Amino acid sequence: MTQISHDRLLIIDFGSQVTQLIARRLRELNVYCEIHPYQKVTDASLKEFAPKAIIFSGGPDSVMREGSPRPPKAAYEMGVPILGICYGQQVMMHDLGGRVEAGEHATAEFGRAYVTPTENRPEFLKGWFMDGTGKEQVWMSHGDHVAEIAPGFEVYGTSPGAPFAITADLSRNFYAVQFHPEVHHTPNGATLYENFVRLAGFTGDWTMGAYREEMIAKIREQVGDSHVICGLSGGVDSSVTAILLHEAIGDQLTCVFVDHGLLRLNEATEVVKMFRDNYNIKLIHADESDLFLGELEGVSDPETKRKTIGKLFIDVFQKYASEIEDAEFLAQGTLYPDVIESVSFSGGPSVTIKSHHNVGGLPEKMGLKLVEPLRELFKDEVRALGHELGLPASFIGRHPFPGPGLAIRCPGEITREKLDILRKADAVYIDQIRKHGLYDDIWQAFAAILPMRTVGVMGDGRTYDYALALRAVTSVDGMTADYYPFSHEFLGETSTRIINEVKGVNRVFYDCTSKPPGTIELE
Ligand code: XMP
Repeated sequence: MTQISHDRLLIIDFGSQVTQLIARRLRELNVYCEIHPYQKVTDASLKEFAPKAIIFSGGPDSVMREGSPRPPKAAYEMGVPILGICYGQQVMMHDLGGRVEAGEHATAEFGRAYVTPTENRPEFLKGWFMDGTGKEQVWMSHGDHVAEIAPGFEVYGTSPGAPFAITADLSRNFYAVQFHPEVHHTPNGATLYENFVRLAGFTGDWTMGAYREEMIAKIREQVGDSHVICGLSGGVDSSVTAILLHEAIGDQLTCVFVDHGLLRLNEATEVVKMFRDNYNIKLIHADESDLFLGELEGVSDPETKRKTIGKLFIDVFQKYASEIEDAEFLAQGTLYPDVIESVSFSGGPSVTIKSHHNVGGLPEKMGLKLVEPLRELFKDEVRALGHELGLPASFIGRHPFPGPGLAIRCPGEITREKLDILRKADAVYIDQIRKHGLYDDIWQAFAAILPMRTVGVMGDGRTYDYALALRAVTSVDGMTADYYPFSHEFLGETSTRIINEVKGVNRVFYDCTSKPPGTIELE
């Protein structure tokens, strides 16, 4: 395997809820880093990873508890800078000869606190304590506290509950803070990471241009002369995966776009056209709408719908994939948060549903190996890579669209008539959102057709037509969401446009349920 040539920073995770944010802050500084759970960090793995600096994350445990998490001793002996955060500070002090005491009410701190500096200001604090107040707001979350610092360390900042809020051994480039600089509530926290990586000698060489070149080399090495298949949904992850692979291996890649008849208005044509016009990628446009809609006839239970679609998707994908000679690899758009979740020692409970789950089960069934070129990236980095690869902005910024498509936006039985109405109404709704400049403020917006007809009056006649629900939410990751607060004018105008322009709808509701208790999709 090609080794990544960047300077690498290792984050040893002791189980903090916010460890991922440390990685975010570092990536924003163009520093390549990886999070490894503490149990997996050994002398040998440290040597192999060869970090240029190490960060110890926070964590929920107490260093005084027998068997609580520790970094390997070798971490302190590698001669590289270390930054300890919260539990990471305590573990460092404890390991290096200081003393930690159990939390007492008077010294525990949770939430906002203010740190004031001592007389000496090391380079690590460059840019801090500059706004005239003489203090910095920080976010604390600790029960235990350091009672005695380790030999060689000095104190550079204190807070009412943490007399050793900022400490450092400048001769060894070891820094240790009691608060969390990675969170939003430490407003100047990013500066500390910037100072730390500068002191550690990082040059900020983690750029998308460099990543693209590296990944291309890695893919070529992994795949050799074999053939790769890639399920293309038109979403940003699968599109970026496909384009990157195409740059790497050209004709050895075949993409399969499965049209299950549950796509939005003109979606199949647009995705296929975008790929055919802009990229010379071998693309199979599998129109299987009759198969899917046939199997879904009369099905109204949400779980049965999902299972039927999931099973058919695998069958269809397998049918096309097995026609491709020498197919040895399946490309997936797995992202870094999925990778972290799956190795997290705290066993993060979240299940992120992603489009590539649509082909889950295939690799084992067909004996395919996986190519996952995005597995080191966060979602916004995938967008940046898409931009770097020249993917049109309209594709990069698209709202997520679920694998089961319109089926889960059509509660009750699915009919072609309902799907037609839904497609048209959804297109008007999205057009309204775009015209009002709101598209990029919203995580996801769509229309759903409700399993009911209501009475209305249009002109001088009675109507008995479908009711429609409009949904729009803001979210960071789709796990929780708030409904979007449209103005009444917007809602009124949109409702009028839909009823005037889409035959078959005579009533429009706006769904103002957040998640939880609702989910984003209706089913
Ligand atoms: P829910 O409805 O669970 O949706 O709040 C959260 C996010 O996941 C998307 N979603 C899916 N995506 N296959 C997908 O590819 C699925 O089966 C699926 N179900 C929900 C949903 O659109 C939202 O972005």
